[in-house]
Amino acid sequence: MKTTLAIKGGTPVIAAGAMQKWPPIDEIDRQLVLASLEGKNHAFGPNCTAFEQEFAAWNGSKHAITTNSGTAALHMGIVACGCGTADEVIVTAYSWSSSATCILHHSCIPVFVDIDFDTVNIDVSKIEAAITPRTKAIIVVHLHGIPVAMDQVMAIAQRHGLKVIEDACQAHGATYQGRKVGTWGHCAAFSFNQNKCLCSGEGGMFVTDDEEMLRKARQLWSFGETRTPTQSRDYHVYAMGWMYRNNDLTAAFGRAQLTKLDGYLAAQRANARVLEEGLRQVPGLILPTAPPGAVPNQYNYTLRFDMEALGHAEDASAFRYHIAEALRAEGVETGVYQPFILPAMTVFQAKDGFGQGHPWSAPQARPVDYALDQYPAAQKHCDRHTGMTTPLRAPNGPELAAQVAEAFRKVMSNLDQLQ
Ligand SMILES: Cc1ncc(COP(=O)(O)O)c(C=O)c1O
Repeated sequence: MKTTLAIKGGTPVIAAGAMQKWPPIDEIDRQLVLASLEGKNHAFGPNCTAFEQEFAAWNGSKHAITTNSGTAALHMGIVACGCGTADEVIVTAYSWSSSATCILHHSCIPVFVDIDFDTVNIDVSKIEAAITPRTKAIIVVHLHGIPVAMDQVMAIAQRHGLKVIEDACQAHGATYQGRKVGTWGHCAAFSFNQNKCLCSGEGGMFVTDDEEMLRKARQLWSFGETRTPTQSRDYHVYAMGWMYRNNDLTAAFGRAQLTKLDGYLAAQRANARVLEEGLRQVPGLILPTAPPGAVPNQYNYTLRFDMEALGHAEDASAFRYHIAEALRAEGVETGVYQPFILPAMTVFQAKDGFGQGHPWSAPQARPVDYALDQYPAAQKHCDRHTGMTTPLRAPNGPELAAQVAEAFRKVMSNLDQLQ
């Protein structure tokens, strides 16, 4: 297909305005949000409690606590697992920053494990080598909605007496061996921020089946108090606490979106199938892979450019930006998800979270090494990927997904125009 790329003045494959915004808003959203606005409690109101119950039922979890972010729910997970100063928590080398900074939030020390290049998730075969006498927990991230092989992670955790926190912030409804993510580990965190599969603007949910973990998480969530805003509070601080509670308006929006979540997930999976079909034969692309038994939710369809095959191994990251720019000119909303691997971030390289090198300088801390050559797969992925969320989301349908595939085919067969 020899044709002028849009970035060089040609006609874009996808016309301006063809892609619809996320999330779709209808009468259910308006009714619930307006009813909250007319209500009496705009803080931790009735929609918050209802959202917790409805989300727990939807996910198949015994307990849920609604939070003001997924990051808050992750921090609650660290505390619920009993982690404290200078305890080590194993985490993937490539994710959103707060998959790892949540560990620092409780003075614990992250130990990074490289990813499996195929699935982009933690390389499960490398977890055991990272366990030390100070290890307390493992955070697994189901990145881009691709589930980690949770049976293997849970077996490792059981062998070593460790807790498992699932970062399911991107993975609502994804399943592994027929079971939803967020029900495998000892606890899990979900995010409801703008581009998540369940969007309430901002927000999150902590889930667990364990009463004691619930109690610890609740205490951290509401000022270190032992009673929730719906109980008669004594306003006494029993332990370190933050203010991680959700509010009624946001919970109302979340409840409305939850009623539509299964439909959204079905639509984005159907759209992803169409996109994948159109991309399968395109040379130079590496399509996403899920482990056997995993059903991704297609939160962020992330593919890699095979820079070795394309002759751009030396300038992989820079050339990837050129290709993504050319795709955007064709009307495809695509971009780099996270331009740094986690251990490369300054806070970890400097080993200073709270000043004076804390928590790494704590007397009980064991030295950890963040030399970047330990994470070659994460760096390789980081330099080669581009991802998409909105193009696969409802109300966008298979026609748009087919056009996205066409735009990829057009750009990939005219790369000489980008040299
Ligand atoms: C994998 C992952 N973990 C954690 C978070 C943090 O969620 P939030 O932005 O709601 O704090 C996000 C989203 O931003 C995420 O994608």
